[in-house]
Amino acid sequence: MNQKIKIAPSLLAADFSHLGLELTNICKARADYIHFDIMDGHFVPNLTFGPGIVKNLRKYTKKIFDVHLMIKPVDKFVKPFAEAGADIITFHPENVKNVDKTIKLIKSFKKKAGLSINPNISEKTVYPFLKKINLILVMSVYPGFGGQKFIKGQIKKINKIREKIEKDNLKVDLEVDGGINTKNAKDIINAGANILVAGTACFNKGKKYYKKNINALRNPK
Ligand code: DX5
Ligand code: ZN
Repeated sequence: MNQKIKIAPSLLAADFSHLGLELTNICKARADYIHFDIMDGHFVPNLTFGPGIVKNLRKYTKKIFDVHLMIKPVDKFVKPFAEAGADIITFHPENVKNVDKTIKLIKSFKKKAGLSINPNISEKTVYPFLKKINLILVMSVYPGFGGQKFIKGQIKKINKIREKIEKDNLKVDLEVDGGINTKNAKDIINAGANILVAGTACFNKGKKYYKKNINALRNPK
């Protein structure tokens, strides 16, 4: 796999009182995607932001808005996030009645569709949809909060999915989210991830370090 490694800083770790400024600074630091962790306090035990925040931040950058819906239900929020400016809309399959229908709904707004699986969900759950989606997001923590520890057992899962993508010659991005830092990024990339979501590792120590943090994740020693 010789895909370019992309870094998707998660705004979950940004200063919520200055999201516009944080977004400007993380874009200047050469983020590839901007990852929005949308949480409803129902599917996950935390509450973050809605379509209004995505809409307001859209004017700050043309970079890809990678919207991760940790919400249930999903379908009724696809339109608001699509119209707010999401480029990729990723959902958890257990939160919809019909996965194909939700994928079609996302695509009806000309957006890319992604499926996300928690650490306890087998990769086989998403295999039937791999030809229909653009991205698979492997959670390497149980979703809800930033700053958690990477669950090492997910490396095997990442590797299996990468093998499946290569074997079936699929055009699907493999994104990983949760507990990623400069110490484990190399193993995660070697296992087959080509997009790394990172909150704490990107935003810690303040804006002077954003570019260094992102580079250290993209090219881990
Ligand atoms: C789920 C969230 C977090 C976040 C990354 O809780 O999806 O995984 O994006 O947070 P860090 O990089 O701080 O673990
Ligand atoms: Zn996420």
